[in-house]
Amino acid sequence: MANQDFAVVILAAGKGTRLKSNLAKVLHSAGGRTLVEHVVHACRGLGPRGIHVVVGHQAEQVAAVVEPLGAKTVLQQPQRGTGHAMLVARRALASAKHVLVLPGDAPLVRTETLAGLIRAHREGAGAATVLSAVLANPTGYGRVVRRTDESVAAIVEESKLAANQHEINEVNSSMYCFSLEKLWPAMARLKPDNAHRELYLTDAIGLLAQGNQTVLGRIAQDAYEILGCNTRAELAEVDRAFRRRAAEKLMAAGGSIQFPETIIDPEVTVAADTLLEPGVQLRGRTRIGANCVIRTGSIISDCVLGDGVIVKPYSVLNASRLAAGAQVGPFAHLREAAELRENARVGNFVEVKKSVLGKGVKAMHLSYLGDAKIGDETNIGAGTITCNYDGVSKNPTTIGRRVFIGSDSALVAPVRIGDGAYVGAGSVVTENVPPDALAIARGKQVNKPGWASARRRAVAAQGRTTARPRKRSKKAKLARGKPSRRR
Ligand code: UD1
Ligand code: MG
Repeated sequence: MANQDFAVVILAAGKGTRLKSNLAKVLHSAGGRTLVEHVVHACRGLGPRGIHVVVGHQAEQVAAVVEPLGAKTVLQQPQRGTGHAMLVARRALASAKHVLVLPGDAPLVRTETLAGLIRAHREGAGAATVLSAVLANPTGYGRVVRRTDESVAAIVEESKLAANQHEINEVNSSMYCFSLEKLWPAMARLKPDNAHRELYLTDAIGLLAQGNQTVLGRIAQDAYEILGCNTRAELAEVDRAFRRRAAEKLMAAGGSIQFPETIIDPEVTVAADTLLEPGVQLRGRTRIGANCVIRTGSIISDCVLGDGVIVKPYSVLNASRLAAGAQVGPFAHLREAAELRENARVGNFVEVKKSVLGKGVKAMHLSYLGDAKIGDETNIGAGTITCNYDGVSKNPTTIGRRVFIGSDSALVAPVRIGDGAYVGAGSVVTENVPPDALAIARGKQVNKPGWASARRRAVAAQGRTTARPRKRSKKAKLARGKPSRRR
C-alpha cells in the first residue's frame, strides 16, 4: 500500500487527566503494548509520506517509544487542544496533499479500516472525511450531526449537546482525512469557544461544512475499533477487546483455549491443535508449535516451543527454547536462555538458567541448573545443584552424555563430568570426573551397632534422675554418660 500524498498525524500530547495517573495517557498499555505504539503500527502498513506524532506530556518517553518505529515527533508545549496540536504539526506537513489524523488513545483501529477511510476520502473528493461509529452508549464522545443529504454538518462535543442531540449515537472517532489546502483556512478560524479555552479540531469540521465544503462521514463496521481510553474503565475494556482479538486469531489458526479471556500479546503465534488451559499468559514474541498443551497458570514470555511440548501447571518460562516433545513443570522455572532439546524433561521446583539440556535429559525434582551444558540422555538426580557462582564470577558446568548424577549432589563449577560417568548421591564434586568413572565425594558412613537402644535407655534414666535432682545417688551420677553399663 502506498499513500505518498498522505501524511499521518497522531495526536499524543495530552496528559490524560481522567486516568488519574502520573504516566502520560498514550504510554498506558493495553493488549501488550502502549496505546501510541498500537496506533503507529496501524499506520505503518498504509505506506504514508511520514508519521508525525504530536508529543507534549512526557514528550521524551513518548518519543522513545515511537521513534524506533519510524515515526517523527513534533512538540506541542503547552497543550491547548486537539486543534492546536494540529496547528503545531503544520510545518511538518508542508509537502503533503492530504493528512490522516488519529488520536493516540484509540489503539484498536486496524490498518484496513484506515485504508478504507483514505479510499473514501479520495473517492468523495471532499475537504474532510470523518470516521464515525454507532455506539450503544455514546457518552463522552463528540456526536456526528448529519444533514438530510447524509453529509456531515458538524461534530458537537458532549458538553455542548443541545437537548435533542443527546439521542444521537453516531460518534466521532477523532480519525479524519483532510485535504490540507481546505483544512488550513478553516483552522485559521478556530476559536477557543469552550470551558477549557482550547482549540478543538472538531470545530474545523463544522467550519468546513458551513463554508460549503463537502464533509463526508464513514461509519466503522466494527465500532470497537474507535474506542478511546480516557478512563481506567475504558482502558480495561480496550485491553479486553485486544485479548479477545488475539484469542480469536489463535483459534482461527487451530488452537484451543478453554478460557478465551486469557492474556496473549499481539506478536504471539500458536500452531494447530495446541491447547491453552485457563489462566495461561503468552507474552512478548512467544511462538508455540502444534499439539502442545499449556496447562493452568503458566506464564510464557519470549519463548519458542516446538511441536508436542507439554508445560504443566504453574510454570514460568522466559526467553527459552523447547524442542519438540519437551516437558516442563509443574512449578518449573526456565529463567532465561534455557534450551531443552527433543524430549528433555524438567520437573517440579527445577530452575534452569543459561543451560542446554540435551535430548532426553531428565531433571525431575528440586534442582538448580545454571551455566550448564548437559549431554543427551543424562539423568540429573533430585536436588542436584550446579554451584555456578563463586561470589565473583559465573562458572560453567559441563556434563557429558548418559551421565547419572545421584540425588543431592553439588557440582562446584568450573567442573566437567565425562560421558557415561556416575556421581554418587550426596557428593560435592570439586574435581573433574573422567568418562565412565564413579565419583563419590562425601563423608564415609560408620555404623555403630546397638548405639540407638542404649541411647534411649540413657535418656530415660536421665529423665528419672532429673525429676529428683537432690537425691541423685553417686551410682546414678556415675552411670550418666555411660549407657552401656546401666542395667
Ligand atoms: C476527542 C474528540 C471527540 C471524539 C473523541 C474520540 C475533540 C475536541 N474531541 O475527545 O469528538 O469523540 O476524541 O476518542 O477533539 N491531544 C493533544 N494535544 C492537546 C489535546 C489532546 O495531542 O492539546 C491528544 C490527546 O493526547 C489524545 C487525543 O489528542 O491522544 C484526543 O484528546 P482527548 O483529550 O482524548 O479527547 P477526547 O475527549 O477523547
Ligand atoms: Mg480521548
